[in-house]
Amino acid sequence: MNPKILLVYYSRSGNTRVLAEALIQKLGCEWVELRPKTNYPTGAWGFLKALLHSMTGRLPEIEVIGKRPESYELVIVGGPIWGGRVATPVRSFLRGHQKNLKRVAFFATQGGTRAGERAMERMQSDAGIPPRASLVIPERDLRGHSLKNSIHGFLARLNPILNEIQGPLRPGLKIQTSGARAGDQLEHESARFLSASGSGRAQNPK
Ligand SMILES: Cc1cc2nc3c(=O)[nH]c(=O)nc-3n(C[C@H](O)[C@H](O)[C@H](O)COP(=O)(O)O)c2cc1C
Repeated sequence: MNPKILLVYYSRSGNTRVLAEALIQKLGCEWVELRPKTNYPTGAWGFLKALLHSMTGRLPEIEVIGKRPESYELVIVGGPIWGGRVATPVRSFLRGHQKNLKRVAFFATQGGTRAGERAMERMQSDAGIPPRASLVIPERDLRGHSLKNSIHGFLARLNPILNEIQGPLRPGLKIQTSGARAGDQLEHESARFLSASGSGRAQNPK
């Protein structure tokens, strides 16, 4: 278990959980699933409630997370896009912990392909600090090679921070992040990072 990275996510209908679990497994980090005190149920009523809250900026209280974000070097935060913004439980977390976040990275899933960039800008404003990397995936790309490639790209962008947190794995090594062998090399470097931090498998942190 990597004690320096915390992944925090919310998922109403399961899509973001798929991405969160893949990242947790890659990073071997601790994690928390956000639970709003009043739920957004699946079905039409939950959809309308979620959309209304998102559009009006009504942020729900969330249950105690049982982790201290300030004790992690990197907090990776993600959720679904609702009405062009990240879901309200994620916004509640970011706003409530602004002062406790040393470094952040963001991820999100969305139904379409358009809202992502603006949603990440808004997420930065909720967090109070810019993300070291961000990733938005349309739900149709949450499987197979698309998912794998997106995660590779995200980890490549995070790699300088992972090295900073962990210390250089191999001084002087330049990591190739594009081209045919980028994925293989990143996989290799990620494996080195994970084995150096004694992690590598997703585990329930509780
Ligand atoms: C209330 C609501 C609003 C949404 N608004 C958007 C949107 O503005 N743009 C978009 O691309 N997808 C939108 N979606 C689709 C979700 O972002 C997408 O299905 C996401 O993957 C759901 O993640 P989850 O299964 O983790 O809850 C919306 C979904 C809901 C429930």
